[in-house]
Amino acid sequence: MKTLTMALLGKGGVGKTVLSALIGRAYSDRGSRVLFVDADPARGLTSALGAIPVKTIGEAREEIISKARSAGNEKDRNELSESIDYLLMESLYESPAFSLITMGSTSSLGCFCPVNSLLRETIRAMAGNYDVIVIDAEAGIEQVNRQVVETVDYPIIVTDNSMRGASTALLIRDIIKRVPGMAPVETGVVFNRVESGAHGLVRVIEESGLAFYGTVGPDPEITAIDVKGEPLFSVCASAPSLSAVKGILSRIEMSA
Ligand SMILES: Nc1ncnc2c1ncn2[C@@H]1O[C@H](COP(=O)(O)OP(=O)(O)OP(=O)(O)O)[C@@H](O)[C@H]1O
Ligand SMILES: [Mg+2]
Repeated sequence: MKTLTMALLGKGGVGKTVLSALIGRAYSDRGSRVLFVDADPARGLTSALGAIPVKTIGEAREEIISKARSAGNEKDRNELSESIDYLLMESLYESPAFSLITMGSTSSLGCFCPVNSLLRETIRAMAGNYDVIVIDAEAGIEQVNRQVVETVDYPIIVTDNSMRGASTALLIRDIIKRVPGMAPVETGVVFNRVESGAHGLVRVIEESGLAFYGTVGPDPEITAIDVKGEPLFSVCASAPSLSAVKGILSRIEMSA
């Protein structure tokens, strides 16, 4: 089965991290193997899942760059390519219900394109072991393309009932179109933390060629988890937000 890739995008604080966790949970409930990718430098998803990875991809990348700089001869370079797999394995957090890689941040400035493409290759090989990859794409779709996977099947733009949220959605749609290699099956929008999508805003979304995937209402279960600082993945099975997300996934699957 082909690995399905989804990425959650949108302006700050709209619920990308919450919806990433709920989408992963919905797939896990069906028995799918889920790989989360936390592409937020602030590691929001990693903490929302209650996960503690040994290493971030950013840290692995730093080690690779410093080893590459000191690799003098062919033997050194061979050792380096062998250690990349190992470094990446250290960056993979595994639990019975899901796996996670945390991108973290990187302090090396400039383009280390060979390192990025090497990492992407290794992530691609790793991704083949999963049914679904859910990316909390805080850092944007270009970063996902450069550092994680070339393309995303379903970019999901999260918004609230604000014109600013809708404008951000259109901006993200334009960026997706410009990123080389990014060829989504469909790009859609989810309204989060609202009872229903404001009519005018849903129209703006649909008229701009984006799919309207549905709405996730304000959920007291999520608020309770927030207060206690519990992992979002363990939200109770009857939580309205989880049911809403399951409905949205059925809607997405119909478009496939
Ligand atoms: N449907 C919901 N019901 C109740 N609370 C929610 C809902 N969606 C999100 N929240 C809460 O709103 C806050 C922001 O959500 P979240 O962290 O997922 O946003 P984000 O888009 O990832 O933010 P950032 O841009 O800072 O990474 C969190 O406290 C979260 O628990
Ligand atoms: Mg977040």
